Amino acid sequence: MSAPKVGIRLAPAGKGLSDETLRRIDEAIARYPVKQSALLPALWLAQQEQGYCSTEAQEQIAARIGVSPAFVAGVVSFYTMYHTAPVGRHVVDVCTTVSCWLRGSDELVRHIEGRLGIKAGQTTPDGRFTLRTVECLGSCGTAPMCQIGDDYHEDLTPETMDRLLETLR
Ligand code: FES
Repeated sequence: MSAPKVGIRLAPAGKGLSDETLRRIDEAIARYPVKQSALLPALWLAQQEQGYCSTEAQEQIAARIGVSPAFVAGVVSFYTMYHTAPVGRHVVDVCTTVSCWLRGSDELVRHIEGRLGIKAGQTTPDGRFTLRTVECLGSCGTAPMCQIGDDYHEDLTPETMDRLLETLR
């Protein structure tokens, strides 16, 4: 499970879920004795379709699960694995918690910002990269590190980070 995010961003409006995704969400809900237990997988299905969890999607899920939209928004904003706005093709999550910080994560973030021409929290104009800073990802022994997609990249230096970004271009 991803670490909690700091702060809440509201999802942009204007996009509801397809009938197919809603059907899959209903299937997920049916697997649990308590509907609320399906909230995380339902949000994951929504994100698979949209690339993030729109306000409409959150409202649709809230209605199906029987909780308030505010409850869903709180869950979405808590976990780094959910996006509350459109993101780039590659989301670079750099851990800046203490072990990574002591091993140079601040410098690493500044290096990536310079390399991509964006600040943390932004997406490159070509839509390839979103750069974020996140809390501990549980890989403190190999700090500094980042997560991109499902993969961890560890013991990073500016040079290895450059090579990594190059392979993703
Ligand atoms: Fe960075 Fe734990 S402090 S992974």
